[in-house]
Amino acid sequence: MNILLSSGASNFVRGVDTSFAVILGISLFFLIGITGVMIYFVIRYRKRHHPEASQIRGNNKLEIIWTVIPTLLVLVMFWYGWTGYRPMRNIPADAIPIKVTAQMWSWNFEYANGKVSDSLVVPLNQAVKLDLFSRDVLHSLYIPAFRIKEDVVPGKNNKMWFIGQEEGSYDILCAEYCGLRHAYMLSKVVVIPEQEYYEWLADTTSVGGDEHPGLTVIKTNACISCHSLDGSRLVGPSFRGIWGRREQVVNPEGEEITVTVDGDYIRRAIYEPNAEVVKGYNKGLMISYKELISEEELTRLTEYLQTLQ
Ligand code: CUA
Repeated sequence: MNILLSSGASNFVRGVDTSFAVILGISLFFLIGITGVMIYFVIRYRKRHHPEASQIRGNNKLEIIWTVIPTLLVLVMFWYGWTGYRPMRNIPADAIPIKVTAQMWSWNFEYANGKVSDSLVVPLNQAVKLDLFSRDVLHSLYIPAFRIKEDVVPGKNNKMWFIGQEEGSYDILCAEYCGLRHAYMLSKVVVIPEQEYYEWLADTTSVGGDEHPGLTVIKTNACISCHSLDGSRLVGPSFRGIWGRREQVVNPEGEEITVTVDGDYIRRAIYEPNAEVVKGYNKGLMISYKELISEEELTRLTEYLQTLQ
């Protein structure tokens, strides 16, 4: 079988595919075998040929056989599963550490030198360790081409690792239902030659390029996964035309009041997002960004919003 021979996009492909093929093979053998025997019995012992049922009682030999063989098969399946899984838990000491932050609904990758990226760029043939953190709810980092998946749990630092063995770009998905835009929580892992990787890593100036510094704040904090820039309605109100708009909001007392979107309101909406929720949107979906967006960044963000008319 071809998948048993290929070494694959990551160091785990072979182990996982082998155990999958073994379990699938055993399952198929029994599916076909049991179905075949069933059909044979139905024909062989049909009423016309066997009007009188014959009773069979006790057969030690048969009972031992049907206990021992399944036990061995289960142990074989366990062995392949275990040998495929165990290396995933043994992280090499020299693996490159990358901090992964998941939030509704984006991924964020931070390197040891402070470089931040929305896609995971890694060097070819080198061990990479991912430290997984969640800002809000349960997520799960899944790279199907690498055959790895790990839950990202709030308040817990789960880890995973891999070696990218083939240059290319592979999908990253969220594999834990985490709310309305779970299906859009996508990214890429890009495997490039070592030298190219270190050049990319050293270049911290290109983050944001010459875009508005306020837009960089918006992108870094993944505001745009819930607030569009083009006026379309997502989970939260669009940023387009928001500045100076009169909005109906619901205050903590449940009363509807009208506010004008100004610096004060933006500040409150980011630091205490559930205090005054715009009418028609859900409360409790946004976390406070007090620890994540500084006053200075807030000023830049507010300046940017004013340009989005
Ligand atoms: Cu994050 Cu689903």
